[in-house]
Amino acid sequence: MANVTVIGAQWGDEGKGKIVDWLASRADAVVRFQGGHNAGHTLVVGDQTYKLSLLPSGIVTGTLSIIGNGVVLDPWHLKAEIAKLEGQGVEINTENFAIADNCPLILPLHRDLDALRETAAGAGKIGTTGRGIGPAYEDKVGRRAIRVCDLAHLDALDAQLDRLCAHHDALRAGFGQPPVDRAALLAELKEIAPFVLQYAQPVWKRLKKVRKAGARILFEGAQGVLLDVDHGTYPFVTSSNTVSGTAASGSGLGPNATGFVLGIVKAYTTRVGSGPFPTELEDATGQRLGERGHEFGTVTGRKRRCGWFDAVLVRQSCAISGVTGIALTKLDVLDGFETVRICTGYRLRGKILDYFPSHAADQAEVEPIYEDMEGWSGTTAGARSWADLPAQAIKYIQRVQELIETPVALVSTSPEREDTILVRDPFED
Ligand code: IMP
Repeated sequence: MANVTVIGAQWGDEGKGKIVDWLASRADAVVRFQGGHNAGHTLVVGDQTYKLSLLPSGIVTGTLSIIGNGVVLDPWHLKAEIAKLEGQGVEINTENFAIADNCPLILPLHRDLDALRETAAGAGKIGTTGRGIGPAYEDKVGRRAIRVCDLAHLDALDAQLDRLCAHHDALRAGFGQPPVDRAALLAELKEIAPFVLQYAQPVWKRLKKVRKAGARILFEGAQGVLLDVDHGTYPFVTSSNTVSGTAASGSGLGPNATGFVLGIVKAYTTRVGSGPFPTELEDATGQRLGERGHEFGTVTGRKRRCGWFDAVLVRQSCAISGVTGIALTKLDVLDGFETVRICTGYRLRGKILDYFPSHAADQAEVEPIYEDMEGWSGTTAGARSWADLPAQAIKYIQRVQELIETPVALVSTSPEREDTILVRDPFED
């Protein structure tokens, strides 16, 4: 049976929550494979609203939910998020929830370093979510991370703590901060260990079994391809690979497990935090997009930057991530605009580019080349079939599809699950 991998094809916040929720309700297992609690998914099920940052979306419906090794896990946040959901009546137990035992931990010292660096960077800051994501990934590749499996061996952690603290103490000294309180860290880890360990296991083994039984697996990506540490707008990126390929490496399955790659694409563009954004609108139109689209961050509450749809960026994201089909979201936000613009190329120092260049200076300097399309006066909100859409809105979707060289699998026309035009069902494809 088919698996589905969902990824954001822009800078995150493409409206993955609703699509993932719909797919999760039909999956047998949902897996988070990268990022951490920097993500923010809002799920509306019946009259309840659930806010998830770290837990896979399947958790609210009792579907087997797995945190893969590619995630960085803050155990204290985990405990708080689970407690909050349990308070809303969600049942979370060792049957329906598992954490990879080789998953690296986010510690308080990572949050400290994230904040110290951002403050020191002033105007040059990345605009991180402040959750310690980057420093935790650095320690993972630096081979000094404390991982979930280490929580079962805290009495033998001395050599690892030596390495970790030597590194962080040197950095902290540079920022004029006292060394890590090693005893306090160990005590905190000892306290949280039993809670985390009850869910810990080699999840690759569990997933292998699930796959063998013919179950449907949904891989739930966080952030977006343009925030990928390799392919994104470096250095203004997150510290993980957000592309579809990470579904395999970040969960312990082979690359053929990823199945249908569904790229979530917003009908315009937004970005939170610093970094290049060629089609950004710092005028009344940008303001209107932000207000109509309720563009405020779920995790940090920050106002999102808004701009026109950039077909060059999305074409690149779809190619890099091997996107099979896209889910176009928030089309209704464009309702009522007299003209809608799509970026089809860039001008850079007299040259025309059909791709987004790698160097930060070039990325900051490219000027968008726009194609203008007539807008539509009718509403697309709540449409459930092509017949419900104004003709100009259909033309817009068709043009997007052509320019990004990737077919539309579904169109989402409101936050409600039913307000969706389904062209291709990713699980049945
Ligand atoms: P970090 O992931 O906290 O290190 O932040 C790095 C960059 O990624 C910043 O620009 C954040 O605003 C952005 N970012 C991280 N997570 C998300 C997300 O879930 N949605 C949108 N942007 C995000």
